[in-house]
Amino acid sequence: MWWQDAVIYQIYPRSFQDSDADGVGDLSGIEQRLDHLAWLGVDALWLSPIYPSPMYDFGYDISDYKDVDPAFGSLEDFDRLVAAARNRGLRVLLDLVPCHTSTEHPWFREHPDWYIWSDAPNNWSSAFGGPAWSKLDGRYYLHSFYPEQADLDWRNPELVAAMQDALRFWIERGTAGYRVDAIDRLLKDPQLRDDPPAGEPFGLPLRQDEAKLALTNSRNAPDTGAALAKIREAVGDALLVGEVYLPSARWQPYLEHLDAAFAFELLHAPWDAERLRAAIAATTRRPGAAWVLSNHDFGRLVTRFGPENARAAALLLLTLPGPAFLYQGDEIGLGDGPRCERVYDRAGRDRYRHPMQWDGSPSGGFTTGSAWLPPVDPEATNVEAQRDDPRSTLSLVRDLLALRRILGDGFELIDADPGVLAYRRGEHTIAINTSRQSQRAPLSRDVVLETAPGAVRDRTLAAHAGVITRSDEGVGQA
Ligand code: GLC
Repeated sequence: MWWQDAVIYQIYPRSFQDSDADGVGDLSGIEQRLDHLAWLGVDALWLSPIYPSPMYDFGYDISDYKDVDPAFGSLEDFDRLVAAARNRGLRVLLDLVPCHTSTEHPWFREHPDWYIWSDAPNNWSSAFGGPAWSKLDGRYYLHSFYPEQADLDWRNPELVAAMQDALRFWIERGTAGYRVDAIDRLLKDPQLRDDPPAGEPFGLPLRQDEAKLALTNSRNAPDTGAALAKIREAVGDALLVGEVYLPSARWQPYLEHLDAAFAFELLHAPWDAERLRAAIAATTRRPGAAWVLSNHDFGRLVTRFGPENARAAALLLLTLPGPAFLYQGDEIGLGDGPRCERVYDRAGRDRYRHPMQWDGSPSGGFTTGSAWLPPVDPEATNVEAQRDDPRSTLSLVRDLLALRRILGDGFELIDADPGVLAYRRGEHTIAINTSRQSQRAPLSRDVVLETAPGAVRDRTLAAHAGVITRSDEGVGQA
């Protein structure tokens, strides 16, 4: 299976490369930049939604599942992109948003019975806060996210058939798989009963009001597997990676039909060796983790973990066993953007979505027009300046991508002093110091890669640093 140890690069199409000077990235722009991805050494690219959309949730509110939004280009542009990617050995994945459509999708008018309605709201809340119900013509429709995103009824066979048709449409055009959006929200209690008061802790961060409830009816219904089987039926053996917002102990029904699920326990773990270790231990108890530390919803490595830890965070992401998702910009250590006067995303996620920075010009090489969100710091952080600098973050990420292919089989967490996360892959030992002091670390003889020059000295690992060492004889004799 090609994806088993693949690195999948997340492109936020609006912000990757503009080719027509309208300040918004597009498919032709992505095509122009494919050489960067091939040079970097990733296996595939995942495009956040490119479908027609009124953009209340920037493409996660789809108004046509079988076309490309004019802002991003055309179906022909998509076909060209897939072919150009294939020529470079890169696969293209799309974002599947099965839980809801835009309220501007013709289905919402023409097939109201494909959606979920109630005469009165229950206590379910939307992911962005507030009730998950909005009134329309005397009834309430369900929206697990923005009111502009109406939830679909996956127990309706006509809807399922329409969705399968859309899935096949892209597979036939050469799509290698899907990242499946918000899949734990696909099926809810058919009787629309209230969520009962919370019992056991949920296991992942929730809003305060959500945490008071056991989220057993508003999501993750027992027959979810039946709907997932329909998705699998339509895509054949294409890769399906689920955005399952559940702790890994509850992945099993999803992994019967999907190939992998995002490891949210790790994504939410603070940069602390003990906590990272616990999250990794829980998640690797069973197969199926897809690793992710940053994306368009949560912000970038540099900002999430601090600039001093970002290189070690990249090392962690790229040396765990299983597919890893790398968010555009993390390869150059791009940070989150400032809050701008103009707000596009009401949920406050604009700052994770500023344009990619290709060179040191004022636009960062992203556009010759006026960028929809300004670049963050192109002079300081850009691809061109880092490409030939062996000490740059870009060089580190590229080295990691090459190294990961030879890390070796197996995965084992190993004991280490407080502040140090350590694990073994084949003959390689990986150690990361999350603390502010240098620490003794389990190291093997040969240093293969350090996140900072001279990070390893006399069996100790510098503060904030990570290292890969190798030995045929095992750990401890550095
Ligand atoms: C997922 C997406 C997020 C979107 C939401 C609703 O969580 O990653 O960006 O807002 O689903 O589709």
